[in-house]
Amino acid sequence: MTTTELQVATTTAISKRTSTTMKALVYHGPGKRAWEDKPRPAIQSPSDAIVRVTTSTICGTDLHILKGDLPAVTDGRILGHEGIGVVEQVGTGVSEFHVGDRVIISCVTACLKCDFCKRGMYSHCRSGGWILGYTIDGTQAEFVRIPQADGSLYHFPAGGDEESLVMLSDILPTGFECGVLNGQVKPGDTVAIVGAGPIGLAVLLTAQFYSPAAIFMIDLDDKRLAVAKKFGATTLVNSTDGKAAEHVMELTGGVGVDVAIEAVGLPATFAICQAIVAAGGRIANVGVHGKPVELHMEKLWDRNISLTTRLVDTVTTPMLLKVVNSGKLQPSKLVTHRFAMNDIMKAYDTFANAAKEGALKVVLTNPAPR
Ligand SMILES: NC(=O)c1ccc[n+]([C@@H]2O[C@H](COP(=O)([O-])OP(=O)(O)OC[C@H]3O[C@@H](n4cnc5c(N)ncnc54)[C@H](O)[C@@H]3O)[C@@H](O)[C@H]2O)c1
Ligand SMILES: [Zn+2]
Ligand SMILES: [Zn+2]
Repeated sequence: MTTTELQVATTTAISKRTSTTMKALVYHGPGKRAWEDKPRPAIQSPSDAIVRVTTSTICGTDLHILKGDLPAVTDGRILGHEGIGVVEQVGTGVSEFHVGDRVIISCVTACLKCDFCKRGMYSHCRSGGWILGYTIDGTQAEFVRIPQADGSLYHFPAGGDEESLVMLSDILPTGFECGVLNGQVKPGDTVAIVGAGPIGLAVLLTAQFYSPAAIFMIDLDDKRLAVAKKFGATTLVNSTDGKAAEHVMELTGGVGVDVAIEAVGLPATFAICQAIVAAGGRIANVGVHGKPVELHMEKLWDRNISLTTRLVDTVTTPMLLKVVNSGKLQPSKLVTHRFAMNDIMKAYDTFANAAKEGALKVVLTNPAPR
């Protein structure tokens, strides 16, 4: 089918739509996705809200899902865990949000009441955690049901910038919590970030809250590395030659780095982190892994290192919201491509071929009907 034929097909499908259906990006098993009709979500529990999605994005995790790395995602699931929208309907138990409110949707659902939520570990909430676009339908659709709405939505600040604030759904809290906080980045530290995708770049932006002395950025893609340079990386390492670890060791006089942050999710990139961590250093894993990695205890046992993993908790979202809203962080600079939500299939093609397309964050918009 040509692009024009596709567009005609899409338009016809939309004109036939009734108010009980909507368009959504649906996963149909590894490598298979479609923009198709689905029933509109309805309130299922008093704590639910239905949100009309006005802005969404695609995440590296969605690509992992499409690769088949996350088998918990089943055929028919609507993908997407990032977005901004307008509250369309609320359950009787929702007290903090009302119909018509503009909201930022968090990728993590939190009841704020269970033992995990009370420890600030929303990622493992007994009735939530990361479920959106994973085990329940997500935000790459015209409407989405948000369970535990009071704990999972944030008010969109008056005068806020949608393209910056959508980065609060996932990448900013993820980069900051899983990379910077778990890696305990301190003033004067030497930090290496493996992976200059949106998540790695979010680590780069938020690591600078703590004034590290040097930040190495490692990736295969020179275009992404150039962006990292603009965002504050001090040294760029292209790892296409497979020798990133050797280069970093050379550049640090054989010492290695205080913090090595894995923001890709592959055995090879986790191996780089193990090879470059200095004695007394930290490895903070951010990447979603679909395959086992080798842990080189024969080299690490006497290095006094710590290794952390984390699913983003989003507990720092309120703080990051203030920083972004003040204009001190401008994550909208990560946006390279803009598409109408209806063109999400093209947006996926662009994001999946990020190196060729020069893509970082791909924003999808679905403006409010007049
Ligand atoms: N822990 C969490 O809570 C959490 C939350 C969100 C995303 N993630 C994960 O974070 C990771 C990054 O997400 P993203 O959106 O930035 O993904 P992305 O796919 O856009 O970026 C990954 C980057 O890694 C680079 N890369 C690939 N192989 C490499 C290699 N051998 N050496 C160096 N660089 C290499 C790619 O060029 C790309 O720039 C993904 O695994 C994603 O699933 C984790
Ligand atoms: Zn994500
Ligand atoms: Zn909870």
